[in-house]
Amino acid sequence: MSDRAPNAAHPRVYLETYGCQMNVADSQTVSAVLRRAGYVTADGVEDADVVLLNTCAIREHAEEKVLHRLRELARLKNSRPEVKIGLLGCMAQHNRGAIMEKAAFLDVVAGPDSYRRLPEMIGSAGFDPSIDVRLDRAETYADITPDYGGGVRAYVTAMRGCDKFCAFCVVPYTRGRERSIPPADLMREVGELAARGVKEVVLLGQTVNAYRFGETDFGALLKMIATINGIERIRFTSPHPSDTTESLIEAMATESKVMPQLHLPIQSGSDRILAAMERGYTVAEYLDLVARVRSAIPGVAISTDIIVGFHGEEDSDFEATTAIMREVGYDSAFMFKYSVREHTRAFRLGDSVSEEDKGRRLIALIALQEEMSLARNRAMIGREFAVLVEGAARRGRGMVSGKTPQFKTAIFAGAEGVRAGDTVNVRVDSATGHSLMCSIA
Ligand code: 5AD
Ligand code: SF4
Repeated sequence: MSDRAPNAAHPRVYLETYGCQMNVADSQTVSAVLRRAGYVTADGVEDADVVLLNTCAIREHAEEKVLHRLRELARLKNSRPEVKIGLLGCMAQHNRGAIMEKAAFLDVVAGPDSYRRLPEMIGSAGFDPSIDVRLDRAETYADITPDYGGGVRAYVTAMRGCDKFCAFCVVPYTRGRERSIPPADLMREVGELAARGVKEVVLLGQTVNAYRFGETDFGALLKMIATINGIERIRFTSPHPSDTTESLIEAMATESKVMPQLHLPIQSGSDRILAAMERGYTVAEYLDLVARVRSAIPGVAISTDIIVGFHGEEDSDFEATTAIMREVGYDSAFMFKYSVREHTRAFRLGDSVSEEDKGRRLIALIALQEEMSLARNRAMIGREFAVLVEGAARRGRGMVSGKTPQFKTAIFAGAEGVRAGDTVNVRVDSATGHSLMCSIA
């Protein structure tokens, strides 16, 4: 959005985003919708006419953070009742009843498929709140170019929603059915980004590799995007193991712009738990996929998501998970304690693992992954990588940082003329579990 405007015809909006990359991308769409309607960006809640929270419902903890923020905003509403406050995104969709009870002062409640109507909703919110949480299986916002932030990397939504209905997950209920954005719209959008100097695009979707539009599957889409001049690197998140087809593996193996990095959420290493989670694959099938990916894409980095303490998880199931982690040797992992979510299939199963056991398992898993991340990064010492420079490193003067093809953070002393957007060959000198210290090769 543009800078502050001096008159009331341009209300100021402050938008806060919680949760995943999809929400960050959605906020850029919200921002574009509001800007078209004459809104400008506020610097903070203090000078805003409208405050919007784009929220996440994936775990209870995510919701608690937003509820805490809403308690703070209640005080703002008390002192400045004319400020309009809106709740957007997955929490709006998931728990509107409970939230309206806790935050009766909300003026707007809008689910992920209602953002087109936001200007109207904000305008009409009066004594009663304006609520729209209808899911719309046709809404892709394909015609709305989001307000991308600057930088060498841009995140572009390729598909929305999820049809997998894993037993633990609220996403199919909050974001609705799977739908893909037409390739022509994606080509136009990525082309515009390239013209603005973006070098790397990350295609987004809750199950991004389930992408399909007519004859175009995800592998074909990657190859199409790769034809765009100026785009040097292509990544995507988050894929699902079951949609990691030969077509996708082939596109990754043959198209040099598609980076050797794959997120393959396993969730559990126990077949019994995977079945209860309704994930749609067994451990053996998953390991076979990892082997095929590794043989087709040399040097590929593989990361994962794991949930500990799903209902029914015994110590032996947890041990199976740690065994798989050792066997695969992930470059990185996101690890979570199971959080029961209303409306999901697992809601009725219960929550048999105590909070204490979940905590103990999570700590053990994080320690194991740190050990493995460190080992995998140390194995890079002495090797050379092409790093796309993002800018100054946080840690010191003259140091710059960027990502290797495997999406590892590389930090090195910049040389004269090295700028964000440049690709520089570096050699790894030393490593921690989180970054590689390098020098220009
Ligand atoms: N509890 C804990 N973690 C969850 N995830 C999804 N739903 C839940 C839940 N109810 C995790 C999964 C998923 C990631 C995005 O969040 O690991 O891959
Ligand atoms: Fe949730 Fe499963 Fe869909 Fe991922 S694939 S968003 S975990 S239901």
